[in-house]
Parts: sequence; structure tokens; C-alpha cells
Amino acid sequence: MRTIPLGRSSLVSSRLGYGCWRIAAPWEGAESRPERLEHGYEAVKSAFDQGFTLFDLADIYADGMSESLFGNVLKRIPSMRDQILIATKCGIRKAGNPHPQDPYRYDFSKEHIMASCDHSLQRLGVETIDIYQLHRPDYLGDPDEVSAAFEALHQAGKVKTFGMSNCRPSLFSTYQKICRVPLLTNQVEIHLLHLDAFNDGTLDQCQSERITPMAWSPLAGGRLVAMAGSDLNDPHHARKAKLRDTVDKLARHYEVSRAALCLAWLLRHPSGIVPLIGTTNPVHITEALKALDVEITREDWYVLMEAAVGKRMP
Ligand SMILES: NC(=O)c1ccc[n+]([C@@H]2O[C@H](COP(=O)([O-])OP(=O)(O)OC[C@H]3O[C@@H](n4cnc5c(N)ncnc54)[C@H](OP(=O)(O)O)[C@@H]3O)[C@@H](O)[C@H]2O)c1
Repeated sequence: MRTIPLGRSSLVSSRLGYGCWRIAAPWEGAESRPERLEHGYEAVKSAFDQGFTLFDLADIYADGMSESLFGNVLKRIPSMRDQILIATKCGIRKAGNPHPQDPYRYDFSKEHIMASCDHSLQRLGVETIDIYQLHRPDYLGDPDEVSAAFEALHQAGKVKTFGMSNCRPSLFSTYQKICRVPLLTNQVEIHLLHLDAFNDGTLDQCQSERITPMAWSPLAGGRLVAMAGSDLNDPHHARKAKLRDTVDKLARHYEVSRAALCLAWLLRHPSGIVPLIGTTNPVHITEALKALDVEITREDWYVLMEAAVGKRMP
């Protein structure tokens, strides 16, 4: 697979990343079943066999089960660890953790970051995480405290590099000014049904600061592929129908699936967006790779953008 350097670092990632959110369970760990775990193993193995070298996780995915399953894959395929980058996240704490009365919240305290990293390392069964990201901005986050945690993790050899997620540009700058380690990546939602990053300065900042944007849910969690019938009660019905027809027309033109076309649209942006695909179906993984063979023209890129926005460009 084609590769891309991450930020200004020497780390190199496959051009598409593999998102491990859904490998152990559809959402909560309690929903997992033994057959789902085997299905998840096959999905990760298939992504690795097909050339993915960036795997994205988080402590909260399936309540830690995604990391444990991934650790199990690494045990079953011992040669894998040295050929891949493991990215994981912390900073979101679910309700009831650790006390039953605790609310859902964000936590960038040094104590939580350090403890969460140790738990992730344990579940993954590795000594080092390649990219450690803060999942969602903590309103009470203190950049000095985060910096101290990051430095300690780096010095202890537990984390190689760091990144942010869902971070608005001004906050990213704030953290980068204060953190004594570079922040390589910003993982945000980007797809044809969610265009904020193009207009809110996120991608501008990625370009000017050489930060790698990672696109989460690049197929809108499957909605871009599903876009089937018409839901006339949906206030955005007309825009979505037009977008679906445009995607289909161009997918036929480029002779790829809807999924590959939507991914190719992200890959075309000069900021070097790394889409994190989340399918656990090996056939869909293969289909996604076709995006790399498509070079969407400037004209077609704008046709898709206009259909996504739902009105003519000014
Ligand atoms: N930082 C954050 O806040 C954040 C938030 C959300 C996600 N993420 C990251 O982004 C990754 C991807 O998210 P996502 O799973 O929502 O991504 P996605 O690729 O947009 O959606 C994947 C979903 O689409 C479905 N799908 C249906 N038809 C498909 C087709 N032809 N090709 C591909 N997928 C198809 C998949 O089902 P099948 O498995 O049946 O194919 C799966 O349920 C996550 O794993 C995680 O690493 C990060």
C-alpha cells in the first residue's frame, strides 16, 4: 500500500488507516460475543495482510475489549508488532467509572492519562504505544499538566509520539505551544456528510503546521454507503438524494464502489488526510483499497463538494 509520513515525525503510515472501534463489539463491551471476537480477529488480520500499517484504537472502545482483542491478534501473529503503528486514545471516562455515581466526562488530568496508558499497554500486551491521542477536549484540561504527563510517558518509553482528536484549531495551538513534545496528528470527523474541517480552520492548520489529519468515520459510519431509499421526513432528504446520485454517477465513471469513491475524495485533499476505515468485513476492506487507484479530477472533486453542501458555490 502507498504510505505517508505522520506529521513532521519519522513515522510512516499506510495511506489508509484501520479503525478498530468495531472489532470486538458493535459499541459496548457487554454486546460482544465469542463469534464477534473471532470475526474481529479475522478483520484485523485481513487489514494487516492487505497492507494496513496504522491501527487506531481507544481505551473506551468496547470498554477495553478492542484493545484486548488487538493484543490477542499480536500474540497470534508475532511478526505483526514490528511492522505496524499502534495508535490509541484516552481522555473520555464513561459513567460509573470508577464509582457507580460518576458521570460521563472528559479527563486530561496527569493521573488519569498515566493510569489509562498503563491499562492500554497491558491490554495491548506491548511495551510502547506509537501514537497516544487525547480523545475529546476536556473543558477542564490544563495544557501544563498534559505536557507533564506526555513527557513522563515518553521518558518512560511507554509512548513514542502524541496527537489530539476532535480538537479545534485554537485549542490544538494552545496545547502545542505548551507541550514540550510535538503533536503529530488531529483525528477529526471528515466525510461528505460532515464538512466542518474544511471550513473551521482544522485542515488549514494541518497544512501550515504539518499536522496529519486523520478522518474518523470516513464513510459516515456506513451512511454514505447505505444511502438507499428516500426518507421524505428527513429535512435534508433532497440534498442527500442529490449527493447519493452524484456519488453513484462518479463511482460508475471511475469504476469503483461508493465507498472507494468517498475515500478517494478525502485522499485528494492536499493536507494528506488519512481516512480510518471501520469495516470489519474483509471484502469491504479490499473494496476500500481501490480508492488508492482513483485520482479524482479537480472538477469531479468540486461536483461532489457542491452536492455535499447542497447549494451552488458562491
Ligand atoms: N476520534 C473519535 O472521536 C472517533 C470517533 C469515531 C470513530 N473513530 C475512529 O474511526 C474509525 C472508523 O469509524 P467507523 O467505523 O464509523 O468508519 P466508517 O468506515 O465510516 O464506517 C464503518 C461502518 O460502515 C459499514 N459499511 C457498510 N457498507 C460498507 C462498505 N461497503 N464498505 C465499508 N464499510 C461499510 C461497516 O459495516 P461492515 O463492517 O459490515 O462493513 C461499518 O459498520 C473507528 O474504528 C475509530 O478508530 C474515532
